[in-house]
Amino acid sequence: MVNSIKNSKIEIDIENCTGCKACVKECVVGLFYFEADLLQLVDTFEDSCILCGHCEAVCPVDVIRLLFHKQEVLADNSIKEKIPSFDSFLNLALTRRSIRQFKDKAISKDLIEKLLELARYSPTGSNSENVFYTIVQDKEIVTAISNHITKKTIGFVKAIETPQGRAYLKERMSEEEFNLAEENLPTTKRILKSIEQGIDFWCWNGELIVIHGDKVIGGMPENCSLAAAHIMLAAETLGLGTCSLGYLTFHINQSKTIRDLLKIPEGHFVGYSLTMGYPNVKYKRIPERKPLRVQWF
Ligand SMILES: Cc1cc2nc3c(=O)[nH]c(=O)nc-3n(C[C@H](O)[C@H](O)[C@H](O)COP(=O)(O)O)c2cc1C
Repeated sequence: MVNSIKNSKIEIDIENCTGCKACVKECVVGLFYFEADLLQLVDTFEDSCILCGHCEAVCPVDVIRLLFHKQEVLADNSIKEKIPSFDSFLNLALTRRSIRQFKDKAISKDLIEKLLELARYSPTGSNSENVFYTIVQDKEIVTAISNHITKKTIGFVKAIETPQGRAYLKERMSEEEFNLAEENLPTTKRILKSIEQGIDFWCWNGELIVIHGDKVIGGMPENCSLAAAHIMLAAETLGLGTCSLGYLTFHINQSKTIRDLLKIPEGHFVGYSLTMGYPNVKYKRIPERKPLRVQWF
């Protein structure tokens, strides 16, 4: 830029700035101000810039750039006219179902990349963008993970049914967790029966998207859940079905074996896991949900 001001993160073409102050109003951490009708950047707070890009998105004359942006010219907002209508978005939300039966058909890497590119635009706390994805397309790895969870679950059921095992578990679980596990024992046994009959209860024999990030950074695991929500809805538009895998998330966070298998980095927390594939089931109607519980002030 010919006549520019910059700090370590932002550069402004000051010559073409019209002084409209849109950036001043927009910046969430107050990095922009005017002095004698000239736009200035706060230097001392530059580290508080969260790189959200709102300043460059809002500038009517396109004179602001985040220095880390690779693209010279950012896409404009004209695509906003092409966003789905409320009704089509509602239809998407109403007709999405958790899919637990998949066709024996692999998903192309291209399609998964498309979904990940979309998920890259999901919001993150303080714009931390601290979301990582582990994709498992190899069905042998999916089976190995499911078998490991089954083995752990069988061990748990055996333990909870012996006095020594109960004592051991009580030492390691909160009273609430232990009581819940005991309450759920009949369900857990039913699950194990279905697994004996060849059902992959933990991953539904789909391809996996495991979403994780550094647990010390704020906004985890919400950032992972939001990315997952974007993927789940978008997958429908590509003819794909998904199902959240709470059990898998729990077990990956607990088990070094699965974490090692998936090379989940040290210090990462898994916030969400999904299974995905081509649905082998068709739903004829939309199940009713409970009435809204909402309070207004
Ligand atoms: C956080 C979360 C965890 C879930 N974990 C599992 C799971 O481990 N296995 C599974 O089959 N379904 C799982 N589900 C799917 C729910 O059972 C499902 O969303 C719910 O029954 C509503 O059905 P629908 O998604 O078809 O509308 C999970 C859903 C959420 C939101």
